[in-house]
Amino acid sequence: MTDLELMKIAQEAREHAYAPYSGFKVGAALLDRSGRVFSGCNVENASFGLTVCAERVAVFKAISEGSSQFSRLLITGGEDIITPCGACRQVLAEFAPDLVVICASESGMMIQYELKELLPQSFALRQREA
Ligand code: THU
Repeated sequence: MTDLELMKIAQEAREHAYAPYSGFKVGAALLDRSGRVFSGCNVENASFGLTVCAERVAVFKAISEGSSQFSRLLITGGEDIITPCGACRQVLAEFAPDLVVICASESGMMIQYELKELLPQSFALRQREA
């Protein structure tokens, strides 16, 4: 699975984003170690704090479908490059401390990070196999 293929999946998911309050749509594509991809989009709520980011939607979809070993995550928020919020970084670190995170703009610019550099010294109760 190439990053361009992940980008296409993330962009399709982004079209489903429910973001009437911020107007900011985000799409995510999470690749697991067996090659399955789980997409996600942000889902907002009138009670703003209940909003769930695209990244966590993708992770929760994967976990609920029996996948928990992840290798790459691509996110796109449209024109500008965005990086995952702090809450999503912590949720991702629970399952994939060695995750590669690709932040992509719709024009095709991509910046690649290690989750470990985005969230150094993350909180963990136990060591989990990456
Ligand atoms: N959002 C995401 O889905 N992912 C991020 O990494 C950052 C923020 C969403 C949450 C909210 O619906 C909108 O973007 C504006 O913050």
